[in-house]
Amino acid sequence: MSERTLVLLKPDAVRRGLIGEVVGRIENKADWAVTALELRTLERSALEQHYAEHVGKPFYEPLVEFMASGPSVVMVVEGERVIEGVRALAGPTDPIAAPPGSIRGDFGTIVRENLIHASDSAESAERELKIFFPDFI
Ligand SMILES: Nc1ncnc2c1ncn2[C@@H]1O[C@H](COP(=O)(O)OP(=O)(O)OP(=O)(O)O)[C@@H](O)[C@H]1O
Ligand SMILES: [Mg+2]
Repeated sequence: MSERTLVLLKPDAVRRGLIGEVVGRIENKADWAVTALELRTLERSALEQHYAEHVGKPFYEPLVEFMASGPSVVMVVEGERVIEGVRALAGPTDPIAAPPGSIRGDFGTIVRENLIHASDSAESAERELKIFFPDFI
């Protein structure tokens, strides 16, 4: 079933010049399409909504600081099973545990700076798309 998902290339990915590499992996998947894309330094208020489920955890505040520390690439990706699919391309949260071949496994080392966010369910995707692309139909 065709779906849409919110993908963020986090500030570490942008600083390290990995936009092309990561967007390329997404574009290479058959029948997926990037339907919106912008380089943008994320507002704290948007990040607080985005990461509301993590409020109170020890990593929350440094995570928000990191995510606001420089530009991210904010994008909408649409296609067949794209929600599950981009999560699979990204790999598990901890880049050391993430398998080689995944984005986090190939490029990451520390948990906070794990390069990419992708919505984890259809409900999360709709919620997150509204935060970052309020005018997107
Ligand atoms: N123990 C931790 N220490 C430091 N940072 C963490 C830790 N756990 C999670 N994070 C950071 O918070 C983000 C959100 O955590 P979550 O558990 O939702 O992981 P995720 O769903 O794999 O990642 P994301 O929501 O960014 O796609 C992680 O991607 C990572 O950047
Ligand atoms: Mg998450």
